[in-house]
Amino acid sequence: MCGIVGYVGPKVDGRALEVVMEGLARLEYRGYDSAGVALIAGDHVLTTKRAGKLANLIGALAQEPPPESSTGIGHTRWATHGGPTDENAHPHAGGEDGKLALIHNGIIENFHGLRSGLIGEGVQFLSETDTEVVAQLLARSYDKVGDLTEAMRQVVADLTGAFTLLAVHADQPGVVVGARRNSPLVVGLGDGETFLGSDVAAFIGYTREALELGQDQIVTITTQGASIINFDGTPAEGKRYHVDWDAAAAEKGGFPNFMAKEIHDQPHAVADTLLGRTDGSGRLVLDELRMDEAELRAVDKIVIIACGTAAYAGMVAKYAIEHWTRIPCEVELAHEFRYRDPVVNERTLVVAISQSGETMDTLMAVKHARKLGARVIAICNTHGSTIPRESDAVLYTHAGPEIAVASTKAFLAQITACYILGLYLAQLRGGTYADEAQAVMKDLYEMPAKIQTVLDDLDRVREIARFMADTRSVLFLGRHVGYPVALEGALKLKELAYIHAEGFAAGELKHGPIALIEAGQPVFVIVPSPSSEHGLHGKVVSNIQEIRARGARTIVIAEEGDEDVVPFADVVIRVPATPPLLAPLVTTVPLQVFACELAAAKGLDVDQPRNLAKSVTVE
Ligand code: F6R
Repeated sequence: MCGIVGYVGPKVDGRALEVVMEGLARLEYRGYDSAGVALIAGDHVLTTKRAGKLANLIGALAQEPPPESSTGIGHTRWATHGGPTDENAHPHAGGEDGKLALIHNGIIENFHGLRSGLIGEGVQFLSETDTEVVAQLLARSYDKVGDLTEAMRQVVADLTGAFTLLAVHADQPGVVVGARRNSPLVVGLGDGETFLGSDVAAFIGYTREALELGQDQIVTITTQGASIINFDGTPAEGKRYHVDWDAAAAEKGGFPNFMAKEIHDQPHAVADTLLGRTDGSGRLVLDELRMDEAELRAVDKIVIIACGTAAYAGMVAKYAIEHWTRIPCEVELAHEFRYRDPVVNERTLVVAISQSGETMDTLMAVKHARKLGARVIAICNTHGSTIPRESDAVLYTHAGPEIAVASTKAFLAQITACYILGLYLAQLRGGTYADEAQAVMKDLYEMPAKIQTVLDDLDRVREIARFMADTRSVLFLGRHVGYPVALEGALKLKELAYIHAEGFAAGELKHGPIALIEAGQPVFVIVPSPSSEHGLHGKVVSNIQEIRARGARTIVIAEEGDEDVVPFADVVIRVPATPPLLAPLVTTVPLQVFACELAAAKGLDVDQPRNLAKSVTVE
């Protein structure tokens, strides 16, 4: 959601426009429907903004090129208050002298009251946005105090909601002021130039040195660096860190889109997430967690909170964690957990899974859980993001930057991190799996090569995806860990190809969904390993027969050598044999590729599906 870029550089270079536009291009993946820039030009601020993709903004800038500038801000907007129009696009001007511009990510919840007050005082608004209200307040405050940082401090005191704000004022060239509450903002420290971004991708082409900000802080950047204060005016320090990936990692690397690249990154994502988790004797060591072992031993309930794909990773984790630790484990959508009265206490371990670390629903659920006394571990892919900061501990996935809106490699990395956590808890607490944890880790170390095997043999999947480009509905069935994989397969198809798709627990079929089956209905079935316990494999083979008998076209994902499925499958997609609990790391991959190929065959934008944003930073 909304991408934000700020830049201050040397006057002689005057390259603010170039840097800000590159930052916006790198933030496109977050999802947006309009874009704009504001540059300090002499005694005023020059703003250009357009609805639609960045190309429209580039066209407008080409028609009326702005003069060189060393200070600028830029924004990609994902509409909340007011539709995606030129008027509603950011930056917004404050005051009438054309000296102040403001951009914003988030929602100002009390904007109606503030707006009415300003209208009462004669202010005329040009847009329907909550942002313009803040711009007007900031201009008034600036006129009183004559300093942008102090003006920002006074204005944020009157705002409720979540926001990142960036502002420039023509009377203070060489300064950009930012403020954040529950919404992302990071600082990039260059040599004689300083950057602000919604995430480090905004400035990764220029510097890998970053500064993490805390909540409720205001940052002022100049060519000398960044100074930070809290909303109450007291000085604060940011946490400096080095970004461990570079601009090349955020590029397509020869693939037609980011999603295809990220699907093919998955063996590395899983291998990197597994790296350094065991000592010389094979025992799991999670020093990074920095959580008291006695406290972890005392945990009597685990609750996983997450949204979307991350929640499906949590569902996979539940099967594994309960099996290995015998600790009851629930999985709940973060936004549902947040607005009820869950039974959690000091002995509950809450695991918050988030690729971006900025998903507002998950962040609010983390705060809720901590308020209720629970300890929270974040599983996150983004250093410097908010959710790890607001949690008691963090286990990072090392999937590298995920640019495509639809999550792929983060999903496999999240599942892997959950396995690691589950095995670690099992090892800590003793019991059957304490001794077996090392053996399971060995199985896990073999998974990257198995994922690669799946990736090397996907021609059949691509072929059926192209063949099915006109399909209107696809169903996905799975049991046990195959059930969340079915849900994930359906989600990928919905969000990328805009096709009606549903995932079901295969056992649920006869309780209703089987009524959907008619001649030719395509159904993907994720078949458990024949080595699964409790006759699970046979049950799913029966499910395939039931739908086939009613005319379904069955596309079956089954282990190498599983011949039982062959008589009932229209298409068999093979995956290598794995221990049953680890199967999602291979069975998910063909479903990701299927959705990606089918969307591409329909001519859709695979990386930026309609209406979606990469990180959902509003509730
Ligand atoms: C789907 C997808 C989303 C995210 C969800 C949570 O492909 O990407 O469902 O998984 O919005 O995002 P994070 O993991 O950043 O909290």
